[in-house]
Amino acid sequence: MDEIIGIVLSRYPAGKKEGLLPILQEIQEEKGFLTGEILNEVSAYLDIPVNKIYGVAAFYDQFRFKPHGRFHIQLCNGTSCYLHGSFPLLRDLEKQLKIKAGSTSRDGKFSIEIIPCMGACEQSPVIKVNDTSYNKVTQEDLRKIIRTIKDKSE
Ligand code: FES
Repeated sequence: MDEIIGIVLSRYPAGKKEGLLPILQEIQEEKGFLTGEILNEVSAYLDIPVNKIYGVAAFYDQFRFKPHGRFHIQLCNGTSCYLHGSFPLLRDLEKQLKIKAGSTSRDGKFSIEIIPCMGACEQSPVIKVNDTSYNKVTQEDLRKIIRTIKDKSE
């Protein structure tokens, strides 16, 4: 068994189904995304059929089955950001990068994730690219950000 998975599982009692969500969350935090192998390990440990675990993981937006792109863009769509124009920004972002929110481009360069609130509502709308935050983002700002990451990704 993978060491990280073993460490996470050891924090939860075997066979207790209540541990499923926190286990998946912790493993994803450590590994970045979930794989079939991970789901099999969790299935054996909690004694839950793997197809049920897959169903749960697929139901929640927070779980990923693919790694983030080299440029991972998080766009806040909380109330304040929404009221300050995050939705048109998202549409623009999806159009420019040719991917939908929640997915990663085929070449692995870009991924988009929607965040419920980044905790900077007074700066809305907020976007983060990897570790860099952009506040009060306008359509023009977004186009510059996209141009920059596209250039860097070449
Ligand atoms: S709603 Fe976007 S930072 Fe809070």
